[in-house]
Amino acid sequence: MANSALVLSGIDAYYGDSHVLQKVSFELGEGRLLGLLGRNGAGKSTCMNVSVGLLPPRAGVVEVFGTPVTRLPPEQIAARGVALVPQGRRVFKSLTVRENLIVAARDKDAATRHANWNAATVFAMFPRLAERANQLSAHLSGGEQQMLAIGRALMANPRVLLMDEPSEGLAPQIVAEVMTTIRKLKESGLSIVLVEQSPKLVFDIADDIVILNSGRVAVVSTAAALKNDGVDLRQHLGVF
Ligand SMILES: Nc1ncnc2c1ncn2[C@@H]1O[C@H](COP(=O)(O)OP(=O)(O)O)[C@@H](O)[C@H]1O
Ligand SMILES: [Mg+2]
Repeated sequence: MANSALVLSGIDAYYGDSHVLQKVSFELGEGRLLGLLGRNGAGKSTCMNVSVGLLPPRAGVVEVFGTPVTRLPPEQIAARGVALVPQGRRVFKSLTVRENLIVAARDKDAATRHANWNAATVFAMFPRLAERANQLSAHLSGGEQQMLAIGRALMANPRVLLMDEPSEGLAPQIVAEVMTTIRKLKESGLSIVLVEQSPKLVFDIADDIVILNSGRVAVVSTAAALKNDGVDLRQHLGVF
């Protein structure tokens, strides 16, 4: 694989005494899209929280473009160019769309800026958000809130984008729009981890697939190889 954008290596993570990630290792190559799959409770969001510094691991190493960031505070990991679109969107409902974007802008320092997103370019990507720029985010539809959550992450000008179940709770047509957006972001050169429960959404868009099962990595493969060998994914993912 070419350069690694994000590496998790031998990660052990706990919530209190509960050992949630056990020796989890995987690697996101630069410019690639990694689909991180697993049943509810498998540890996907915990991997995202570890990657952005919200949950320091007890063991193991996180690297961003070859530099260890393990146990750095979230702000410093963000400065290395990692942004998370959190599960459940978590936009500020009491702020307008534009305010949500502005408060998410991370820095004006060109030295640690990995892209050139601003409110105007986010609005150009999501015209529906532009139309609603001055509305309270509480009044957005689920799909619009997801677009805003993605826009907020882009405002940090990342080079690694982590998206935690962006399709959750959205109608199929809106899911398709979100997937189109993700494809565009990949084409723009971002390295992306796309967390989903459903392999159907991920297989067509991902280069690489990692499947978690009960806090452990069960499968690491390219998407193409997995499609061909017909591994029994039900074993790890349940019915889909
Ligand atoms: N804040 C928390 N405190 C305690 N346990 C948690 C917390 N968040 C998640 N867990 C537990 O950790 C495990 C992994 O959760 P999570 O990473 O959210 O899984 P996924 O995102 O794959 O659904 C689950 O058993 C879940 O119940
Ligand atoms: Mg989750």
